[in-house]
Amino acid sequence: MGEFGMTYILAIETSCDETSVAVVKDGQTILSNIVSSQIDVHKRFGGVVPEVASRKHVEGINFILDEALREANLTLDDISAIAVTYGPGLIGALLVGIAAAKAIAFAKEIPLIGVHHIAGHIYANHLVKPLQFPLIALVVSGGHTELVYMKDHLQFEILGQTRDDAAGEAYDKVARVLKLPYPGGPHIDRLAKEGKPVIPLPRALMDDSYDFSFSGLKSAVINTMHHAEQKGTKISQEDMAASFQEAVVEVLVEKTMRAIKEKQVKHLILAGGVAANQGLRSNLQHVCKQLDVELTIPPLALCTDNAAMIASAGYFYHIKRKWSTLDLNGVAGLALTTV
Ligand code: KG4
Ligand code: ZN
Repeated sequence: MGEFGMTYILAIETSCDETSVAVVKDGQTILSNIVSSQIDVHKRFGGVVPEVASRKHVEGINFILDEALREANLTLDDISAIAVTYGPGLIGALLVGIAAAKAIAFAKEIPLIGVHHIAGHIYANHLVKPLQFPLIALVVSGGHTELVYMKDHLQFEILGQTRDDAAGEAYDKVARVLKLPYPGGPHIDRLAKEGKPVIPLPRALMDDSYDFSFSGLKSAVINTMHHAEQKGTKISQEDMAASFQEAVVEVLVEKTMRAIKEKQVKHLILAGGVAANQGLRSNLQHVCKQLDVELTIPPLALCTDNAAMIASAGYFYHIKRKWSTLDLNGVAGLALTTV
């Protein structure tokens, strides 16, 4: 059970292409957070290949588990509970983490906690600064675009979400059209700084809903590039990156700000891999200052998939005694509901 009063959560995250194990004390202090990315393996396919991802998780999980415990300077006997991402994600990938987590929970007779991946992304912020409620979380990743309102710990109310592509997915698809490597988000972000947003692109769903839609924008980029190619004219990659980025960021910021005002919150948190985006960060910083709203953005290593964020969320499930049973299963399309 560890030191008296201390809670050590060991967490496992294998929902996509990162194998990660972390140990976090009391939901806030990272003792270790080992992340083994498979990006190089999937790069040549231009995206994550689910079957390959599962196999890589199997190969790496035991080693990464040992590494996380070693770096935390603890043994399994010190661990209070095991948290694991059980969805949403690639089913074969999720199951690797879940099987490992169950084995430890069973052998050590400690609680098993199934954690929602997006709850994890949100709680990455708690590792930086305690969450202050009520808050708005903007979750933007390769698989998700969600605007979430939270009145208290683990109380998630989804105000809006994407109706088609996720923000990061749109970045990756547009990057492919621009012949940039996978994952394309960081490349577009970098190029955007060198270009001008002079190419007209649509802003989808600028209505009073909180939903997002990025597939029309993606198609507009593809069409513009194809037309230019057919006509033999050249479009600057930098200008296209800047124009696309402006279109994405404008919609994300506008809807987030409207939610902040409507719900009268004083804390905005950003989550998911796209939180690394410089354009999004600087725009949100600017408007939050104007509205006198505190903005928390986790450091890059905590924005992308990692197990420390799962441990932090898992801690709150743990203190509420929201434990899972040993028949916990992976759920590819798991919904984010209040726990
Ligand atoms: O959260 P994450 O690691 O994985 C998911 O759970 O989806 O997010 C990865 C996504 C990828 O689509 C990647 O292109 C995007 O985050 N991304 C970015 C940037 N860095 C990563 N998108 C835009 N700008 C960035 N700087
Ligand atoms: Zn993620």
